[in-house]
Amino acid sequence: MGFTGFMEVIQTIKQMREAASKVRAAGKSIAFVPTMGAFHGGHIRLMQKAKTLGDITVVSSFVNPKQFNEKEDLNRYPRDPERDRLKAEKAGVDYYFEPAVEEIYPPGFLTTVNVSYLSSKLEGASRPGHFRGVTTVVLKFLNIVSPNTLVMGYKDAQQFTIIHQMIEDLALDVHLVGVPTARERDGLAMSSRNVLLSPEDRDKALSLNRALKRVHFLVKKQGILHTGELLQAVRSAINSSGAELDYAEIVNRTTLEPVDHVMRGGTYVLVAARVGGVRLIDSTRI
Ligand code: PAF
Repeated sequence: MGFTGFMEVIQTIKQMREAASKVRAAGKSIAFVPTMGAFHGGHIRLMQKAKTLGDITVVSSFVNPKQFNEKEDLNRYPRDPERDRLKAEKAGVDYYFEPAVEEIYPPGFLTTVNVSYLSSKLEGASRPGHFRGVTTVVLKFLNIVSPNTLVMGYKDAQQFTIIHQMIEDLALDVHLVGVPTARERDGLAMSSRNVLLSPEDRDKALSLNRALKRVHFLVKKQGILHTGELLQAVRSAINSSGAELDYAEIVNRTTLEPVDHVMRGGTYVLVAARVGGVRLIDSTRI
C-alpha cells in the first residue's frame, strides 16, 4: 500500500477504511472525489483539483442505483470500468474505491438521508427520490473514507447546494470544494450522458449552453437583472432548438428559491432538457 506511484483499487469498505486510517495515522490529508465512473474531462479536473488539496487522493466509482428513479436510465448509464481505472491512475489517484452494489447496500439496508425541501425542487421535482439517493450514498462514502476535503463539480449546482446543506446540518467534519463546469470545445457541458447523443441531438443539446451564455450577455452587457425577462430568453433559446425543456429557473444559490432579480454572485441559472431521450442539465452562476 504505497502513498505514491501506483493506484490501489479497493472493493471493500473494510479495506477502504483501513487504507484511510493508515493515511491519517501517517499525518496525511485526504481529498475525496465521489463519482459514478464513465469519466470525461470534468472528472479528471475534479481529480486534478483534489490532488492540489490533499496529500492523498481517493476517488470512488459507484453507479448508485438509489439515485436513479427510472430503471431504464440506470441500465443505459454508460460504464467502462477498465478505461476509468486507467484514466484515474493517469490522473494520479492514490486509492480507487470501486465497491459492488451489495457492499454499499447489503440486504436489509434501511437508512436514507434526506435534505428536505431543497431536494424536492427542480431536479428533485422531475426525479423524485434522486437527491435522497445522492445524499445517502455521499454520507456513507464520507463515513468510509473520512476525507478532509470533498471535491465536487458545480455543474450539478443543486446537488452541490444540497451536499453543502447536509454538511452544515449534520456538522460533518469535511471541507467542500467546488470545481467549475468543464465544457467541450463547442460549449456543451461535459457529462457522462453526452455519449448517448446522436450528432443531430448534440446540436439541440448545445442550446442549453447558448441559453446560459445569453443570460450572461443580457446581464453584463445590457444590465437586465429582471429574471422574468432573462427566463424568457432562456426558454426561447432552448425551445427553438427542438430540445424539450423541462425547467429553467433563476434561483438564490443557497435557498434555491426563485428570485425576481439577479443578485450578482449569489444567483444560479439552472436548466434541464430532454434531447433524444437523454436528460441533460446545465447551470451557471451570475
Ligand atoms: O455527481 C455524481 O456523479 C453523483 O451524484 C455522486 C455525487 C457521485 C453520488 O453518487
